[in-house]
Amino acid sequence: MKLEPENCCVVGLQWGDEAKGKIVDILGDHADFVVRFNGGANAGHTVVWGDRKFKLSLLPTGILKPHLISVIGNGLVIYPPRVMEEIAQLKEANIEVGENLKISKNAHVIFPYHMEEERVSEPISHGIGTTGRGIGPCYQDKVNRLHGVRMGDLLCEDNLRTKLEWIVPRKNEMLQGYARVNSQRLPSPNSSTSQHVVQPKTFTVSGLLEEYLHYGQQLKPFITDTTRLLQEGLKKHKKILFEAAQGSLLDVDFGTYPYVTSSSSLPGGIWTGTGIPSNQLNSIIGIVKAYSTRVGGGPFPTELKNEIGNRIREIGREFGTVTGRPRRVGWIDTVALKYTAALSGANKFCLMLLDVLSGLEKVAIAVAYELNGKRIDEFPNDANDLEKCQPIYEYLPGWSEPISGIRRKQDLPLAAIRYIERIEALIGIPLMLVSVGPDRAQTIWWHENA
Ligand code: GDP
Ligand code: IMO
Ligand code: MG
Repeated sequence: MKLEPENCCVVGLQWGDEAKGKIVDILGDHADFVVRFNGGANAGHTVVWGDRKFKLSLLPTGILKPHLISVIGNGLVIYPPRVMEEIAQLKEANIEVGENLKISKNAHVIFPYHMEEERVSEPISHGIGTTGRGIGPCYQDKVNRLHGVRMGDLLCEDNLRTKLEWIVPRKNEMLQGYARVNSQRLPSPNSSTSQHVVQPKTFTVSGLLEEYLHYGQQLKPFITDTTRLLQEGLKKHKKILFEAAQGSLLDVDFGTYPYVTSSSSLPGGIWTGTGIPSNQLNSIIGIVKAYSTRVGGGPFPTELKNEIGNRIREIGREFGTVTGRPRRVGWIDTVALKYTAALSGANKFCLMLLDVLSGLEKVAIAVAYELNGKRIDEFPNDANDLEKCQPIYEYLPGWSEPISGIRRKQDLPLAAIRYIERIEALIGIPLMLVSVGPDRAQTIWWHENA
């Protein structure tokens, strides 16, 4: 299929893991820059080329193609050892990283005290079930302005020392405070519950200073003003592919708050997370799994806690790319998808992992909810209301044939085509492609073959 080069964003329309990595890899063939604008190493994006499989967390998926420039924008939170680890893993796979990686000097830095904060605050975190990568605490420090450290700070010893001398004692104190609160919340020692207080680690200025100056030196060749770089690129008519992390329902403002991540995972995050204004975008491509998944806590109206759910989890290998946690699984939810399609501005979508549904007698699509005895068609963006919603389903016949070898629409079973076309009609934006396997070749371009 011939694609016009354009400035485009790939965004997940569910709760993450929609297979964005596969589509960024395919569209990367038509881009000059591949740019991450939000999140950090909480993301896990998979690319499969034949028998080669790559999992990227912090590096943009474009890094697999060294002729592209891969940009980690200012909107990310970066754990420097993770960047170095990913570069080393790519080197082992014979993929060199050099001039093609650019890291914003304004992106914020994750320290071990951020992960520690996440660990000790877990007992009072409403069961969000984060990835434990220090993402939330680092964004919190960014917006409070007192404790934020940016990548550029790692290049100046005096600057970093002054910051850490202020930050570290306060962090140690705060971690102890969490431990005290946790211990007060625990049952008395003669209670039968066997919970124990999580004792926090303590950190030293000298230890962190030495460690992070070292990271600064290692990453210095990549750290730059990425906003200027991208703006210069646009002046030369270079094309940018923005790679969203997480999914629209995990967006800090529009997702199922507080069961969300701490960044703007909708395309709204591009402007603030890179410095490229939205009027530069030509196209927004929503990525949708043929069913739903969610990792961690929070409402999930179409969740399947039964044999069908277990079957989809096993066949779809629905275990977290980052944490290995089993993903919660459910039917596709077009109430949620209409909400995220509108919020994201997606002008087309890709339907992923359709092959996983082969062999089911019937398949279901949530078309509305019942809330307090009334039918509603709008997605409630309040987690408490959503928790009470019962999905109203349309059931369609399933198909028994495996479809992962199919490359043309007309070769798909009729029942699969009906399922796809019903979803397309309900979401209300055109379908671009259907994915029937992890490999980039396992793709059916929809309207070209119609
Ligand atoms: P991302 O975070 O959105 O990039 O998605 P993940 O990489 O976390 O999870 C998607 C998983 O599905 C990965 O293991 C992919 O290799 C795999 N995958 C992608 N497309 C398909 C598909 O069409 N069918 C199947 N069975 N697996 C797919
Ligand atoms: P990709 O880019 C799926 C979820 C976590 C948790 C919540 C908050 O691979 O789609 P955080 O560590 O971000 O504070 O966790 O968000 N989460 C994801 N779920 N895919 C992701 O990324 C996710 N990134 C975060 O499981 O529920
Ligand atoms: Mg993922």
